[in-house]
Amino acid sequence: MTEAAWDVVDDYIKRKLMSAQGAQEETLRFNQRAGLPAIDVSPPLGKLLQLLACLVDARHILEIGTLGGYSTIWLARALGTHGKVVSIDVDRKHLSVARENLVREGLSERVELRLGRARDVLDNLKEENYGPFDFCFIDADKENNAYYFNYAVELSRPGALILIDNVIRAGGVVDPESADEGAQGARRLFDAISADTRVEATALQTVGSKGWDGFLIARVHAK
Ligand code: SAH
Ligand code: DHB
Ligand code: MG
Repeated sequence: MTEAAWDVVDDYIKRKLMSAQGAQEETLRFNQRAGLPAIDVSPPLGKLLQLLACLVDARHILEIGTLGGYSTIWLARALGTHGKVVSIDVDRKHLSVARENLVREGLSERVELRLGRARDVLDNLKEENYGPFDFCFIDADKENNAYYFNYAVELSRPGALILIDNVIRAGGVVDPESADEGAQGARRLFDAISADTRVEATALQTVGSKGWDGFLIARVHAK
């Protein structure tokens, strides 16, 4: 099967299981017009985020890496009428695009956007005793994934779910010599989690409209 076929199947899943509004086609169009890179999660995987956040009955959600808010909106849809997503991005323009999308979706009340380097904003959240989080989605600069993961575990409740995007990198994760910083970040993440007794984890390879990549999924042990 070719990458073009993966795209066709992703489109089929989208058409069968989501409405145009559900799949946020307007958000994707708006992001494209604003010149944002098309590196949002795919519609099927966005909906997976929503379903998993629903499963853990998430009320407090942490997202690292907002971009135009596409994944943020999927996560916010899991909240029902209670709770909040706090989403961090270092890029002011990305957050202003995200804010417009959230307003259009009627979800701006349920999302707090925080501008800054994720390391700094995480320090602030910790100082403010923000959380604990039920669900964390890590999708920013891949080099820092092990650092963000450790922080996410610290800020999470027992039983929380932590997802990290882009951990397969077209198979680059198994290449110790990979020149892709993202693949090296994924390798450090796997090393860290393999020695981490606070979580149980697996990873899911995916193909689709965004190529060959995958999620790491970890559950914080319930005490
Ligand atoms: N989660 C989004 C895609 C995020 S793309 C979605 O699926 O729709 C990655 C984002 O991480 C970009 O917007 C980029 O500005 C942000 N980013 C990169 N490095 C960062 C850092 N050090 N701190 C915070 N955000 C960062
Ligand atoms: C990139 C970032 C992502 O979050 C993603 O899903 C795909 C690619 C990137 O920085 O290239
Ligand atoms: Mg990503």
